[in-house]
Amino acid sequence: MPFDFATAVLRRLPPETAHHLALRAMALGLGPRRSSERPRLAQTLWGRRFPNPLGLAAGLDKDAEAPAGFLAAGFGFVEVGTLTPQPQIGNPKPRLFRLTEDAALINRMGFNSRGHAEAKARLAKRDRGGGIVGVNIGKNKDQTDTVADYVAGVTTFGPLADYLTVNVSSPNTPGLRALQAKGPLIELVEAVKTARDRLVLADPPPILVKVAPDLSGEERQAIAEVALEHRLDGLIVSNTTVSRPDSLRSAHRDEAGGLSGRPLRDLALAALADFHRLTDGRLLLIGVGGIESGADAYRRIRAGASLVQVYSALVYQGPGLIPRLLDELESLLERDGFATLGDAVGAGLPSSL
Ligand SMILES: Cc1cc2nc3c(=O)[nH]c(=O)nc-3n(C[C@H](O)[C@H](O)[C@H](O)COP(=O)(O)O)c2cc1C
Repeated sequence: MPFDFATAVLRRLPPETAHHLALRAMALGLGPRRSSERPRLAQTLWGRRFPNPLGLAAGLDKDAEAPAGFLAAGFGFVEVGTLTPQPQIGNPKPRLFRLTEDAALINRMGFNSRGHAEAKARLAKRDRGGGIVGVNIGKNKDQTDTVADYVAGVTTFGPLADYLTVNVSSPNTPGLRALQAKGPLIELVEAVKTARDRLVLADPPPILVKVAPDLSGEERQAIAEVALEHRLDGLIVSNTTVSRPDSLRSAHRDEAGGLSGRPLRDLALAALADFHRLTDGRLLLIGVGGIESGADAYRRIRAGASLVQVYSALVYQGPGLIPRLLDELESLLERDGFATLGDAVGAGLPSSL
């Protein structure tokens, strides 16, 4: 209950102020403490044990300040970043808006990042046995050699990350989403894989690509082909949308940036199901976008996701979301006769869902 109260108080503050306070509290170990262990929901993927499938999405802990705090609050894994090689301040404020009536957010943060060196120092100190931490990498706004920034991300964080995410789908860095086109994507994927292999690690991190929800059918098909042919380890579907559904009611609906939360849910689910189909279920998928309940997570899993992530719903519901969502997910698996979560991955969407 005290954390629900804190969430209600934070929601009365300007969004970025609330974000900073919440992150500080988590970094100081003042967040809730709940075990992540859920035997029915545990999986081993890429040789890594996920105690449950619910992760914190990228962008909340951009500079890797509090991964241990989020893991201690019950998340099954945490993705930090997006990190850029050089520190950069991002777009002018205000750049984060609550669309409360729509249970949504619009952000145009523009990769505010304190840079690789600071995050690297922090991650190097963490206890690797303390839970799974993925690192999401991007490029500086004024860097013209795009590939070099991603290669730097792999070289810096490869030895420290449990997985790496190549973010080519944030709408707030000019030109970034063009990296999802076939030619540039092949070049990028080959470069980051080569950089990883050059590190000669005993347990090299899997590399995933995070995609937008606004891709056409042909664009998705091309990405699926690249992912399979060039042996990516997974896709994260999806980032925020630049679309604005007619249903939006909040006064902030026309702010520029990426929309997340409830209005993104159906779009992100459809994109995920499409990628599952296009890859014949052969690629590990992480579902993200508008997930706010166990039923949402369950739908994403049956549509092909092995793992799911949340951001916006955490802002609205606070950390009580974590056990609520996992409890509900367990009961849905039980109801439908799945002994383990893995059995439900890609099982298909019955009409009752
Ligand atoms: C304020 C904010 C900042 C974000 N920053 C990043 C980022 O740096 N990198 C990234 O890959 N995704 C970023 N995201 C996208 C989220 O990781 C997630 O894909 C998206 O919000 C959809 O999930 P949700 O509906 O649960 O919020 C950001 C989202 C928000 C709301």
